[in-house]
Amino acid sequence: MELQNDLLLRAAKGEKTERTPVWLMRQAGRILPEYRAVRESVSGFIELAQTPELAAEVTIQPVDVLGVDAAIIFSDILVIPEAMGLPYEMVEKRGPLFPNTIKNESDLKKLRIADGANDLSYVIKAIEITKKNLNGRVPLIGFAGAPWTIFAYMVEGSGSKTFSKAREKLYTQPKFSHKLLQMITESTINYLKAQIAVGANLVQVFDSWAGILGPKQYAEFSHQYISQICDAISEVPVTVFAKGAFFAREEMGNLNCETIGLDWNMGIAESRRLIGPSKTLQGNLDPAALYGNPDQIREATMDMMEQFKGSNHIANLGHGVYPDIDPEMVKVFIQTVKDFK
Ligand code: CP3
Repeated sequence: MELQNDLLLRAAKGEKTERTPVWLMRQAGRILPEYRAVRESVSGFIELAQTPELAAEVTIQPVDVLGVDAAIIFSDILVIPEAMGLPYEMVEKRGPLFPNTIKNESDLKKLRIADGANDLSYVIKAIEITKKNLNGRVPLIGFAGAPWTIFAYMVEGSGSKTFSKAREKLYTQPKFSHKLLQMITESTINYLKAQIAVGANLVQVFDSWAGILGPKQYAEFSHQYISQICDAISEVPVTVFAKGAFFAREEMGNLNCETIGLDWNMGIAESRRLIGPSKTLQGNLDPAALYGNPDQIREATMDMMEQFKGSNHIANLGHGVYPDIDPEMVKVFIQTVKDFK
């Protein structure tokens, strides 16, 4: 189907656009009262994510309510461990929890390489419904976690400030670590390809915990697996967002992907210099800027837009929008990007 608004895809491919496209990481499911109403009709996040009609509904809400230039499918990065045989729970106000974790080579026998279309059929169905209901209004973004970030949750068993149990494995059991990372990588490629097969127009890889590794470990245990994913996906543009990996920007410039996401700690001019001219850059307003009043938000957004000016850019925050941000302030951010000349 022909897209009515393909700004995001043209910007990702490095084509000139009439204006800069804008969307927000975590736009679906954090800030909208419309989301909370749907969420309260079910037992919790997992039921919502596994009910394709509802997942499609909350995916489209930000397009209707906020006027973003893309939808991102409502799901979570942790569906991959579950599809590999390691189920998770979402604990209210605390976040994800894995009742079992992966600690050594013998635990790997409990896992399988996920087949995206079969093991994650509920996400695939949600994408089909979303595409039908979006009716070509904006592109749909598919996504997955980067292998290192998924590894971190599978080993640690929950969120953590340091992920020290996961980082420990990289030193004490490098062979085991590589085997698990390779299984996650293959599962992720299958999953992204299944999303693309039913209509995801662009895919983003979230390496949310990239920044807790040092440069050498990042190269060995994260970057090379992201690189495999980029090499495997040529059907649609790929965005890589490695939060905190300021030290790896030069290497990111060599990835076989179209767009690199920047977090708000990364200087814009410096990032462009390190990454090189060929990639589109996405980001990178500090999510906390949206706590300001409309004038302050306009000023911060204009300042960001000026710094990206003349460079291929997709406007976004430097990480996911915070749950307590007023949707009206998100609209100020979006409108400021849309009005920018
Ligand atoms: O844009 C979107 O919101 C689409 C859906 C989406 C979710 N998670 C839904 C979700 C996306 C893109 C994600 C990605 C995700 N999940 C990441 C990478 C991006 C990032 O923020 O760094 C990570 C690290 C996770 C893991 C995860 N899932 C955590 C740590 C938590 C708990 C805290 C939180 O972020 O809310 C989740 C839960 C989760 N994922 C919720 C939603 C809507 C909240 C669950 C609920 O409704 O109770």
